[in-house]
Amino acid sequence: MCGIVGYLGNEETSSILFESLKRLEYRGYDSFGFATIHDNKLWITKDKGKISDVVQIKLPGSIGISHTRWSTHGPPSKINAHPHTDCKNRIALVHNGIIANYLSLRNKLKERGHIFKSETDTEVLIHLIEEYYKPEDGVKLEDAVSSALNAVEGTYAITVISALEKKIVGARKESPLVLGIGNSCFYLGSDISSFLPYTNKTIPLDDFEMVVIEPESYKITDFKTGLLKDKKITKIEWNQKESSKEGFDHFMLKEIFEQPQILKIALNICEEEISKLAETIKEADNVYITATGTSLHAAMTSEYWFSKLAKLPVRVVDSSEFEEKAVLDEKTLVIGVTQSGETYDTLRAMNYAKKNNCKLASIVNIPSSTATRISDITILQGSGMEIGVAATKTFTTQLMILLRLALKLAKNNGETVSSPTMKNERCLLSKDVGDKISEIEEQLKNVPRYIEEALTQKEKIKSITEKYCINVKNFLYIGKGINYPTALEGALKFKEITYHHAEGMPAGFLKHGTISLISDDMYTIAFVPRDDRKILSNVEEIKSRGGKIIGIVSGTAKHFDETINVPRVSDIVSPLVFAPAYQLLAYYTAVALGRDIDQPRHLAKTVTVE
Ligand code: AGP
Repeated sequence: MCGIVGYLGNEETSSILFESLKRLEYRGYDSFGFATIHDNKLWITKDKGKISDVVQIKLPGSIGISHTRWSTHGPPSKINAHPHTDCKNRIALVHNGIIANYLSLRNKLKERGHIFKSETDTEVLIHLIEEYYKPEDGVKLEDAVSSALNAVEGTYAITVISALEKKIVGARKESPLVLGIGNSCFYLGSDISSFLPYTNKTIPLDDFEMVVIEPESYKITDFKTGLLKDKKITKIEWNQKESSKEGFDHFMLKEIFEQPQILKIALNICEEEISKLAETIKEADNVYITATGTSLHAAMTSEYWFSKLAKLPVRVVDSSEFEEKAVLDEKTLVIGVTQSGETYDTLRAMNYAKKNNCKLASIVNIPSSTATRISDITILQGSGMEIGVAATKTFTTQLMILLRLALKLAKNNGETVSSPTMKNERCLLSKDVGDKISEIEEQLKNVPRYIEEALTQKEKIKSITEKYCINVKNFLYIGKGINYPTALEGALKFKEITYHHAEGMPAGFLKHGTISLISDDMYTIAFVPRDDRKILSNVEEIKSRGGKIIGIVSGTAKHFDETINVPRVSDIVSPLVFAPAYQLLAYYTAVALGRDIDQPRHLAKTVTVE
């Protein structure tokens, strides 16, 4: 979604904001804007387009705010770009989120004589702040901001400046905003990556918190009650190399190739952390996992692992559907899987679970993100910053953590433990399953190596995309059992960055309708672990109707027009080794089509609106 950065210190703010905003461009990239204070005046520049295409931003002053937009209300344009200003040009504001009651507020404000310039929901907020802002009567900017926020409905992270005061006011409700504390200076950002080159000391704001930063100090209050908040400073350890492409053409390609290394880190997440969540799962009567997009596909894969390995019926629900579907009580555990820890739908589902007295856990990549702060237990992924909008390394890390959890529970089951469906019963692992588990554990340790091996197929994958994926515009991705979510994720990656149509589905489902689409303009990608006979009969059904098929194969099957071979592993581990192959298939197709790989059209890395 939109990215926000603010800076108050002794340096010229516009160059710091410019560099910081470029690091947030993965959040939104349809327009950008800056506002600074100098000589008791606001200085503003904004435009449609990408901040990365701009060479320099030069505005005077050492206090400023900036924004990169992912439009919700009003198309990308210079007028709709943030910052927005009041009628007197005294205050400026940037916003991430949606003001739900903006239409009624806009009408009321217009009646009171306010002039609106843009089509955005955001603009009502600045005019509302203007209504309350009476510096001549001693009403300070923060007073006006909190009065305005108490009158709006919706979600927001905002930063506001006034030409008349040396401060930045920031506040949040259901959209992220973090404070960075530097040497004699302060930063505000949508996430820590925006200011990490300058400081790793941060305080993430929680809902209904407002921060006022001034030259020598900062103050955090609850804007509903006006009470002062005492918040701890967190130090973030983060590798700076992550924000450079290091010789790769795109961040996505770099992140795909980082997977062997990142998965070694995931293998080393300490056993106690995995055990602690496994224990919590065991103690719960019901377990839900909620997530969306790629994280949902990781969760869906784990549903098979929990059921096959640990005999645990875990329910996975798309977080945007969670409130409609979940049946919750105080003995229910809800696990949110979210790389950013800031996805609106997932946080909403988690908060709904909290209201229903459930225990909350999460698997999250970004330290100190909202999901980590509302959870009782969190496993941090340790995947490092992922900049490409299309998730790759964070997905395989989620898979690795979830598989480790399922294995832990499977082993515990064998030793002593009861499961939610078999309360009070104890089940012992049969020798078969026990053998299988040690084989899987062995393979799991080798996953980084398997992925390295799969990545050696890159030239072959590139040539397949050139031959098959450029002119054809429709693709079916099919997989069976544990690789049904693989098919969904393969199709999602392909859609996101190639803009071609792709649908994932269970291989067995195809013959119940979709097979009518098989034609010269509908090719199939099939995931085949260890020569799975059942899926191969579905493959034959497609072939006999003249359909072209690319097989991604962890075995020796040769039934395809083209085959991409990945290491032969057990079905259980196969979703991990298939990932680099379909990620590269999407990547090279998108490159050949000249797509914007790291910032595909219409998408944002972190979706912080409903
Ligand atoms: C995946 O490539 C997308 N970027 C998107 O589907 C993403 O996985 C989804 O928005 C969930 O994000 P999260 O993991 O940060 O919650």
